[in-house]
Amino acid sequence: MGVKEISASEELESLAVRFANEAIELERKGSKRIAVTKYQRAVELLLKLCSLYPTAPQNKVYMEHAEAYKKRVKELQSGSASIDHPAEAPDLRDSKSIKLDQWVLTEKPDISWDEIAGLERPKRAIEEAIIFPVRRPDLFPLGWPRGILFFGPPGCGKTLLAAAIASEIKGVFFCADAASLMSKWLGESERNVQQLFSKAREVSENTQPAIVFLDEVDSLMGVRGEEVGGEVRVRNQFLKEMDGILDKKKKFHVYVIGATNKPWVLDEPFIRRFQKRIYIPLPDIKARMDMFQVYSHDLKFGNNLDFAELARMTEGYSGGDIRDLFQSTQMKVVRDFFQSGRAGDNSATPDPIRMEDFQSILAARRPSVSSSNLKRYFDWDETFKAS
Ligand SMILES: Nc1ncnc2c1ncn2[C@@H]1O[C@H](COP(=O)(O)OP(=O)(O)OP(=O)(O)O)[C@@H](O)[C@H]1O
Ligand SMILES: [Mg+2]
Repeated sequence: MGVKEISASEELESLAVRFANEAIELERKGSKRIAVTKYQRAVELLLKLCSLYPTAPQNKVYMEHAEAYKKRVKELQSGSASIDHPAEAPDLRDSKSIKLDQWVLTEKPDISWDEIAGLERPKRAIEEAIIFPVRRPDLFPLGWPRGILFFGPPGCGKTLLAAAIASEIKGVFFCADAASLMSKWLGESERNVQQLFSKAREVSENTQPAIVFLDEVDSLMGVRGEEVGGEVRVRNQFLKEMDGILDKKKKFHVYVIGATNKPWVLDEPFIRRFQKRIYIPLPDIKARMDMFQVYSHDLKFGNNLDFAELARMTEGYSGGDIRDLFQSTQMKVVRDFFQSGRAGDNSATPDPIRMEDFQSILAARRPSVSSSNLKRYFDWDETFKAS
């Protein structure tokens, strides 16, 4: 990107942010008195912003922050603020600047492609869109997609797939979820987005591919953003960054994978930046059978166990639901074991899991995804599919 133009209001805003951050830092170190003067500077600047640009939409946020800092100053001056209890000043503490390193995945997740049951189509799409181009960019003279969106019901493997991609390919993997990007702090959320992308571009200029995984990417649209008025700016910043990496003239090796279970929250400009949109559906019967294999590791089963029947009974259940089912069933036999009083004997073991154990747990559990929601995913896929 070229030289950024910073308007006077942005300049003032960032100055205010800096003073407040310094104040928080000082407070943490115990320098309350200097912290007070920094907070006061921040308040002055915020009020100045409001008077210079009386019609700016952000004014409400500026005022709120100014009020919060004024209150903090009073607390510090009266000695009623306890810095030992972070809970007492949550919004101020939250605002500390985020360290980029926290987004870089240094240890590759220990999950392989084969541990993910089903999802054959998504896996193939991921190979074509990410794994092949990362390995052999020379084979893709016409380019390849840089933005990929996984969408679908909760608990079906979106986050799991991203982890498997990270362990599969060489490159720097940035992993940022909404919570770590969105800040209550004025202007900081979009700055986080900007920093994340500029770091990714920097990495990719050194010939290493960079993969940015944004979990719960819908929150960048702002419905859950906590900072009043901040959402539009975060969204716009994101669009701008996406355009930056899609720039045909620059060969950035940056991929952005977004995951969401609320695709309908996204607006069209946002959706368009993800050239590939991949539906991660509920597991079908074969995938459920495969999951049973994954989850029955280290479990003991009685000989009446019929996995094919269990697979039929779990129609509509997500991968997460199935993992929970196995966990709860195992828990049940252990509980029965303790209740029978046999646990005192160290050589005794719980009974093997019987079909009835699964049945009794299943009877008490509905699938976590409703059929009306499923239809919503299906409709969204029909409208926006690009796989
Ligand atoms: N295809 C799958 N194969 C094996 N296990 C799965 C699969 N899908 C889901 N699971 C299990 O369910 C858990 C939740 O899956 P994951 O976190 O990937 O869901 P998600 O699609 O990201 O959901 P959310 O939208 O709520 O973030 C996983 O940790 C795993 O145990
Ligand atoms: Mg997830």
